[in-house]
Amino acid sequence: MAKTLNHLASTFLFVSIITSPSFVVAATATTESDHHFARHVSPATLGLKREKLSHLRFYFHDIVSGKNPTAIKVVQPPDGSATGFGMVAMIDDPLTLTPDLNSTLVGRAQGLYANAAQGEDSLLMAFNFAFLEGKYNGSSLSVLGRNYVSLTVREMPIVGGSGIFRFARGYSLARTLMFNFTTGDAVVEYNVYVFHY
Ligand SMILES: *[C@@H]1O[C@H](CO)[C@@H](O)[C@H](O)[C@H]1NC(C)=O
Ligand SMILES: *[C@@H]1O[C@H](CO)[C@@H](O)[C@H](O)[C@H]1NC(C)=O
Ligand SMILES: *[C@@H]1O[C@H](CO)[C@@H](O)[C@H](O)[C@H]1NC(C)=O
Repeated sequence: MAKTLNHLASTFLFVSIITSPSFVVAATATTESDHHFARHVSPATLGLKREKLSHLRFYFHDIVSGKNPTAIKVVQPPDGSATGFGMVAMIDDPLTLTPDLNSTLVGRAQGLYANAAQGEDSLLMAFNFAFLEGKYNGSSLSVLGRNYVSLTVREMPIVGGSGIFRFARGYSLARTLMFNFTTGDAVVEYNVYVFHY
């Protein structure tokens, strides 16, 4: 009986600690000298050892047609724009191991591209490679760059990353393997070179 009461009491205490607003106040009731805004740390404190260079290659499927498009135009360019200047598309494009859409899904390209040029076919690309494969699952790389689509190979910077790719920097080379002029669907090979720890 006493044990049960004790148990009930401690359960109640526990519940009241995590739900009571005063607990929140207690946790934050510190003086400013307990905090630091910025300080130097050694790379070892974050477990950072040797910087590595990785090469990733995969195939990006930009599917604009059919019942399940992976790229959706969210802003229509104004009438009369020769290049589609002003168009914005949101993407969740599959990334596969081989050019075959049915091959292993290694990740998705999530973000947007926008037609950013009045006199040429040049896109602003702003998206993340969200990886799913093996030890890369859950890690990401961020791409922010210019995609001048008339070139055979376009280079876009890798500006950062998460997970395995913390502190990442590098570049990606995009080469269109297939563009279907009827549907607008495209398969693009990406070769990515990144420094990371
Ligand atoms: C991919 O798989 C689906 C379902 O099995 C099949 O209908 C489709 O033809 C395949 N596509 C290719 C390019 O092999
Ligand atoms: C990736 O990680 C998620 C979340 O941990 C998990 O559900 C999923 O099965 C993993 N995918 C692969 C291909 O390992
Ligand atoms: C383009 O897509 C159309 C419609 O799905 C298909 O009939 C045609 O074979 C495709 N062309 C190429 C080059 O893949």
